[in-house]
Amino acid sequence: MATRVAAATLLPVVLSLLLLPRTDSSSDDYSAFVYAGCSQGRYAASTQYASGVDSVLTSVANSAPYAPYANFTAPSDSSLVGLYQCRSDLPASVCTGCVRSAISRLSSLCSWSAGGAVQLRACFVRYGNDSFLGKQDTAVLFKKCGGTPGDAGGVAMRDSALGALVAAAAPEGGGYRAGGSGAVQAMSQCVGDLDAKACSDCVSAATRQLKAGCGYATAGEVYLGKCYARFWANGSGGFSSSAGRHGFGLVHAIATGFFASLVYVSLVI
Ligand SMILES: *[C@@H]1O[C@H](CO)[C@@H](O)[C@H](O)[C@H]1NC(C)=O
Ligand SMILES: *[C@@H]1O[C@H](CO)[C@@H](O)[C@H](O)[C@H]1NC(C)=O
Ligand SMILES: *[C@@H]1O[C@H](CO)[C@@H](O)[C@H](O)[C@H]1NC(C)=O
Repeated sequence: MATRVAAATLLPVVLSLLLLPRTDSSSDDYSAFVYAGCSQGRYAASTQYASGVDSVLTSVANSAPYAPYANFTAPSDSSLVGLYQCRSDLPASVCTGCVRSAISRLSSLCSWSAGGAVQLRACFVRYGNDSFLGKQDTAVLFKKCGGTPGDAGGVAMRDSALGALVAAAAPEGGGYRAGGSGAVQAMSQCVGDLDAKACSDCVSAATRQLKAGCGYATAGEVYLGKCYARFWANGSGGFSSSAGRHGFGLVHAIATGFFASLVYVSLVI
């Protein structure tokens, strides 16, 4: 407890971001860490809130094998909600493992925080009492561009691949969308509490961020409050073949406006 209190007072009020070189996350490293945020508001052990957090996170873990998205409300406190969203194109076994890993990250990074969120490669878990369920949120939380510098032809393919995401209809039961143009692939995933229109709006905002902020980069990803989008080059035609998801040479990352409704501290490890 003493350590936790000390840690709490050390947490900066202003959002902080620390970016360390990540170990190369291969495309099937589904539990690789992307970002996490914890509220500054905290709860005490052995309170109704504490048991509510346990309850929603337990429900999240139990539900992951059966659906790529679900939300849960604490039995004792209707303002306390937890949800998870897996990449809905991946098998349930991946979702289950990823969510389990995300909850364990949350417990260590955001212990006693009234709200917290963690994004891993294949899943997102968030809980809190800050009324986020069903609300659009296009704040940029994490952004990275990289790869071997491409050229104008590659940029055109990127824009077209990203445009396909916005135009795509999400398949039934999941906010995953995929698009491609020539050598460039793109994907996006919305959190399941957004309807199709809100998902399109969020993906559209994400693709604008990538187009505006990634220059000639041949790979990029941006995480907004309720969706994320990525693109990467997989072949020739202007983009270097080395510039896949593994090829982040230049790294540009920002994190702003993390959960505007509460002061959250962003942790990127
Ligand atoms: C959320 O819960 C925390 C911990 O119980 C409390 O301090 C805070 O006031 C609550 N916030 C809202 C918006 O209810
Ligand atoms: C890139 O990958 C996609 C999907 O695997 C494939 O359809 C496309 O032909 C590839 N493009 C190039 C130029 O290799
Ligand atoms: C939250 O979960 C309930 C129960 O499964 C469901 O009926 C509701 O549509 C969900 N709400 C949102 C915004 O996802």
